[in-house]
Amino acid sequence: AAEKAEVIERIKAQLKAQNAVLVAHYYVDGDLQDLALATGGCVSDSLEMARFGRDHAAQTLVVAGVKFMGESAKILSPEKRVLMPDLDATCSLDLGCEADDFARFCDAHPDRKVVVYANTSAAVKARADWMVTSSCALSIVQHLKDQGEKILWAPDRHLGRYIEKQTGADMLMWNGACIVHDEFKGLELDLLKKDHPGALVLVHPESPESVVAQADVVGSTSQLLKAVMEIDAPAYIVATDNGILHRMRQLAPGKKLIEAPTAGNSATCKSCAHCPWMAMNALQGVLACLEQGSGEIQVDEATRVKAHGCIDRMLDFVA
Ligand code: 13P
Ligand code: SF4
Repeated sequence: AAEKAEVIERIKAQLKAQNAVLVAHYYVDGDLQDLALATGGCVSDSLEMARFGRDHAAQTLVVAGVKFMGESAKILSPEKRVLMPDLDATCSLDLGCEADDFARFCDAHPDRKVVVYANTSAAVKARADWMVTSSCALSIVQHLKDQGEKILWAPDRHLGRYIEKQTGADMLMWNGACIVHDEFKGLELDLLKKDHPGALVLVHPESPESVVAQADVVGSTSQLLKAVMEIDAPAYIVATDNGILHRMRQLAPGKKLIEAPTAGNSATCKSCAHCPWMAMNALQGVLACLEQGSGEIQVDEATRVKAHGCIDRMLDFVA
């Protein structure tokens, strides 16, 4: 504990000395979330992380999350230095949507508007017309549908299917998934609900259709957190990465939070719903990138300029 307190003090000193700010996602270690808030940074969903990084005056952004979050920060603020505790922290959606394959898919369907999820590489974004996050995907696709557009969607098939059902848009889809949310199970959720009458079911839309179908609230991590704070219920079943429980417990103390069932946690594994790449973020890594200048995000300028357009379009839309 003494060592942890010392690391935290050293990070605080480095943040100050380097005019740096910590931008964290709800899925990272609770100590990192607390430190971000204690030092004037933010803990949020991926949309707010992008906006916070763009608008903050700091010269250096330390992004505790996964690589696409660091890249989005750099794309929006090329003049800032963007550091990450571990550059190997990626995402199964990003890994499953390789830029050249994706470009061929787009080339084969030139009549469609290309809409990509934030959880993709800068190179994939460079090929897109729009980027969306889980908090605004529905309204942006609805807007495009209202304009008569047909959509090419990538990479999350569950989020895509949810939006397709809600909007009735014509969506051609890439076949990607999040390895964490893909594990939530509809049948087991149905059984769990019977044990907790009246429980509010909160689901991130990267989850399978059988799980989303049982949701009372479908939304981004920030939207699910807001629902726990604002809606009264005897219990809340949470179908997203369990890293978010840390902030939910802080902002809704005393409320009964239950992790939604995955294939594993109904039997032996009690914490299956946790992203292995988000888990690579640790206090030591934050200290190391600040002290050594390691883990710097680079995006080549031609790619960055192209990718900027699709992120900016989303930020203008939600403004
Ligand atoms: P949010 O934008 O909802 O925070 O989602 C990011 C993510 O990676 C979910 O798995
Ligand atoms: Fe990607 Fe899923 Fe991890 Fe989010 S939880 S970063 S979507 S693998």
